Amino acid sequence: MKLREIREVDMTYILGIETSCDETSAAIVEDGRHVKSNIIYSQIPIHREFGGVVPEIASRNHIIKIREIVSKAIAEAGITKRDLDAVAVTMGPGLVGSLLVGVNYAKALSYSLGIPLIGVNHLDGHISSNYIAFEDLEPPFIALIVSGGHTHFYNVKDYGDYEAIGRTRDDALGEAFDKVARVLNLKYPGGPEIEKLAKNGNNSIKFPTVLLEKDSLDFSFSGIKSNVINFSRNNEFKKEDLACSFQECVFEIVRQKILRASLQTGMNKIVVAGGVASNSRLREVLDTLDLDIKYPPLSLCTDNGAMIAASAYHKFLKKEYEDLSLNAVANFCL
Ligand code: KG4
Ligand code: ZN
Repeated sequence: MKLREIREVDMTYILGIETSCDETSAAIVEDGRHVKSNIIYSQIPIHREFGGVVPEIASRNHIIKIREIVSKAIAEAGITKRDLDAVAVTMGPGLVGSLLVGVNYAKALSYSLGIPLIGVNHLDGHISSNYIAFEDLEPPFIALIVSGGHTHFYNVKDYGDYEAIGRTRDDALGEAFDKVARVLNLKYPGGPEIEKLAKNGNNSIKFPTVLLEKDSLDFSFSGIKSNVINFSRNNEFKKEDLACSFQECVFEIVRQKILRASLQTGMNKIVVAGGVASNSRLREVLDTLDLDIKYPPLSLCTDNGAMIAASAYHKFLKKEYEDLSLNAVANFCL
């Protein structure tokens, strides 16, 4: 792909596009750290009546919205398309039909403007949301992603240099929240609903704290989820207490795993990211640890284009560009 000449400018503006699940988002980020705009169109109200994301409906709504969202992001940043230095897009992991909408839009835009196209791993994006929140944050650190689709530990050695050190063996943490919420007849997505209910509940029901093998940094949440479901079928209880007890159980596991990760790696700088990181009780529990733990602001915890642009910045500096053969990869690993 023929690129236009590199502009002699002090600042770089990267457009980040995110369509991996049910948020259509576009953002402009300056120099990888400063958000100029971050437009998020959430499809949650559309999917709510089905109790979860319907992939086909998600792709169709991305198609309907993407042009408008990108235009808004550019306008709100106070720039024009000609000021963009690169177009970055989530290429995976995610729903393939949803990813393809963003990938194809990004390809067309970068081609028409003659600017680099950068493919971003969604999980790298979540971690990078902390580069926006903490201007001085630099690797190395430990990253824990807790989202609807993923629960992963990484040893982040450098920008783009990740060693996977743990992961869920079954359900992701956000997924467990969503499934427990369904049992309690709460609306989708369940995480924020459980958090609200739990505030008025007691930790009075004991669920097992599953820590797996002594040294393991893996997680397993499906047993706890089944315990909660069985308990709810066979007992009288207050919804608030069940929500609180479930939340306390899984956050105690996260607390202990973070402690383990820190002890095993000798690192005390921890970055938490992903939708579940917006839970205020999780932050309270983790703040009891004598570690330097960082979380992005709530607006950057769930899916957004700014984290994609921030992640792309380091690839931009290294000229790690894609060509028009870029494809969506539903199970893209970090
Ligand atoms: O990162 P995200 O927006 O999308 C994925 O990449 O998966 O995360 C969405 C997940 C959902 O499972 C949602 O229930 C959960 O994050 N979540 C929460 C909270 N807010 C969102 N879980 C617990 N507490 C919350 N406050
Ligand atoms: Zn996500």
